[in-house]
Amino acid sequence: MFFRKNQAAAAQGAASPQSAGTTRVAITVNGKAVSADVESRTLLVHYLREHLRLTGTHVGCDTSQCGACVVLLDGRAAKSCTVLAASCDGANVTTIEGLAQGGTLHPMQEAFREHHGLQCGFCTPGMIMAAVDIVNRKGNQLDDATIRHELEGNLCRCTGYHNIVAAVKAGAAAMSGKRQAAE
Ligand code: FES
Ligand code: FES
Repeated sequence: MFFRKNQAAAAQGAASPQSAGTTRVAITVNGKAVSADVESRTLLVHYLREHLRLTGTHVGCDTSQCGACVVLLDGRAAKSCTVLAASCDGANVTTIEGLAQGGTLHPMQEAFREHHGLQCGFCTPGMIMAAVDIVNRKGNQLDDATIRHELEGNLCRCTGYHNIVAAVKAGAAAMSGKRQAAE
């Protein structure tokens, strides 16, 4: 996953400052261009949740461990609590809200539903976004060991992971021949 905190300073320098402490950022989120002046310290997860009201991306920890905040950043999974919004100027972000198309669930969402890959659902958006990234990188035929290894950055306190692994495996297969994911 991307960890961009250390890239933020360079990115802030490239973007145009609007006023003291804020930076204008233009991001494509779920296919829609958005721009705003954000404080330099604003994390991407807070920008998504509080500025754009995309509350499907969750905050489950303050230690960058849980993965509830995973989004696709330029097509790769990233923990959005580790990314400064100001570093995302010009980036393409997909959140859980951007996966379903025209009322039809993404195959990975459908697989989590079919295989009961959730209980309380708090970790689920991050799990699904991470799973889509795994398929994009590793392909559609995934074994259990690979899925468990690749999901080590996503924590679930409810399910015991068995059903999550089954869901990711089924979702990966279902993505074969269909669109891989929003980029
Ligand atoms: Fe980002 Fe926990 S909220 S890893
Ligand atoms: Fe509850 Fe994963 S389903 S935290």
